[in-house]
Amino acid sequence: MSDLGRTEYITFDRAADFYDATRGFPEGQESIIADLFAQAGNLRHGSRVLEVGIGTGRIALPLARHTGKLYGIDLSRAMMERLRAKAGAEAIQLSKANALRLPFRRSAFDAVVLVHVLHLIADWQGVLREIARVLKPEGVLLCGDTHGNTLHSPVFEPIWTAWRAVFPEGKVERIGLAQPVAEALPPLGWQPLGEPRRHTYTVMRSPQSVYQALAQRHWSSTWQLSETELAQGLAAVQAAIQANYSEPDQLLSLQVSFEVQAFRPPQHNL
Ligand SMILES: C[S@@+](CC[C@H](N)C(=O)[O-])C[C@H]1O[C@@H](n2cnc3c(N)ncnc32)[C@H](O)[C@@H]1O
Repeated sequence: MSDLGRTEYITFDRAADFYDATRGFPEGQESIIADLFAQAGNLRHGSRVLEVGIGTGRIALPLARHTGKLYGIDLSRAMMERLRAKAGAEAIQLSKANALRLPFRRSAFDAVVLVHVLHLIADWQGVLREIARVLKPEGVLLCGDTHGNTLHSPVFEPIWTAWRAVFPEGKVERIGLAQPVAEALPPLGWQPLGEPRRHTYTVMRSPQSVYQALAQRHWSSTWQLSETELAQGLAAVQAAIQANYSEPDQLLSLQVSFEVQAFRPPQHNL
C-alpha cells in the first residue's frame, strides 16, 4: 500500500504457509520446467541470472543447478524464508527488494526470470523498465506462464462461470497486468526470441477442493474480498458444484502446460 492507501503491489506474506502445497509443481516436473528456462535462455554454469518475485523458489532452485548460482528478489520475507529452508538454497543470493527498484547495477545479468508477478504490481511497466536496465544488451527476459491450471481448466468451467456471475470483470479491482505477459511485451518493444517452449503435465483435483481453496483464500484474487462478498461467491460455487458434478470429491484430470518465452529488451535500451 502507498501512503494514499492505493494498492501498489500484493506481497505474498500471507501465502507463505500454503504456497508450496497449492502452487508447487507435481513431483518430477520442477526439473523439466527448469530445463525449459535453461534452453530458452541458453543458460549454462556461470550465467548471471536474476528471478524477480522469486517466492519460495520453485523455479529458481532447480534452475540454479544449471547456472551454479542465482540471484533472487522478493518483497515477502516470509516467502523467502521458505526458500532458505530448502535443499540447495545456498546457491541462491536473496535480497528483500521491490521489483520497481532492483538493487543491481545496469547490465548486470544475462537473464531475468519472471513468473506470475506482473498481475500483482500496479506499475508493471515500471518493473519491465527496471528489468531492461539490469539486463545486458544481449541478455534475455524469460517469462513463464501456466495454462489450463485449476483457475483456467475447462474441467472447472461451471465453477468459474458461477464465480464470474458474482464477480463480473471490473467488479473486483485488478492491481496489475490483466493480460498474458507474452502478449503485453511486444507492443512495448520487447522482441520474442524463438518459439515458446512448453511442457504439459497432469494434475488431479476435485471440484470440492476448489471450493475449499476459495474458502481458504488460496488465490490472491480473493484477498481483497470482504467476508460477505466471499460468502456470496462460495454459495454460487457450491450450487454450481451440486448441479454439475455428481461426485464433488472425485479427482478429475487437468492437463496443465507451463510455457517459457524468451524476449530481448527494447532496442532503445542499448
Ligand atoms: C505468485 S508469486 C510467484 C513466485 C515465483 N515466481 C513462482 O513462480 O513460484 C508472486 C511473488 O511476487 C512477489 N511480489 C509481489 N509484488 C512484488 C514487488 N513489488 N516486488 C518484489 N516482489 C513482489 C510476491 O511477494 C510473491 O512472492
